[in-house]
Amino acid sequence: MSKPRTPVVVLISGRGSNLQSIIEGMQQDELAIDIKAVISNRPGAAGLEHARAAGIPTETIDHSAFASREAFEQALRQSIDQYQPQLLVLAGFMRILGEEFVQHYLGRMLNIHPSLLPKYTGLNTHQRVLDNGDDVHGASIHFVTTELDGGPVVIQVQVPVLENDDAEGLANRLLQQEHRLYRQAIQWFAEKRLQLINGQACLDGEVMEKPLLLNDL
Ligand code: GAR
Repeated sequence: MSKPRTPVVVLISGRGSNLQSIIEGMQQDELAIDIKAVISNRPGAAGLEHARAAGIPTETIDHSAFASREAFEQALRQSIDQYQPQLLVLAGFMRILGEEFVQHYLGRMLNIHPSLLPKYTGLNTHQRVLDNGDDVHGASIHFVTTELDGGPVVIQVQVPVLENDDAEGLANRLLQQEHRLYRQAIQWFAEKRLQLINGQACLDGEVMEKPLLLNDL
């Protein structure tokens, strides 16, 4: 009997390299998930091609076609829920989500953010790390709550900032680690080891007092 797979919907806005890494993890049987659909808020997002190449259904819900954020999010919810996902994966999804949407998926929505949260919420994280002269940069996987980039962090990865780094070089080096990072968190969730309980991230039933560090695993 084949093992049960967690149904997943992935939301993207662009390139989709994290999506591609998750697809490969699924295809190689490293991740016990079944990606039911990939949905983009941007028509023509390059990542949609990765999904199509893997035979995964795709949809585009163009936020700019809606009169309000509420109307966009309602359409997005309808589209997502027809696939009945147990997990919603935000992989480079660049829209801020409203309270009702977040509450609907609370405890079953993960995001990747390119910084060592709580440092550098928001945009342009790589440049801000360089401008501040930090030695270390990184990425975080967190449960999505109504606070922007503020939900409980599950796991992080650190990369050193090198002397001649520019924002692009630093971002590219980090991206390789992001892919490993997201697969780890998704696998924990699929194994039902990772949960959000009373607003706190829990691994194997224990509250995570601080995020785990992939570098240490
Ligand atoms: C990734 O670096 C991800 O951490 C970041 O967007 C990039 C998407 O790349 N996410 C955010 O900034 C969320 N606020 P990808 O499309 O190649 O996966």
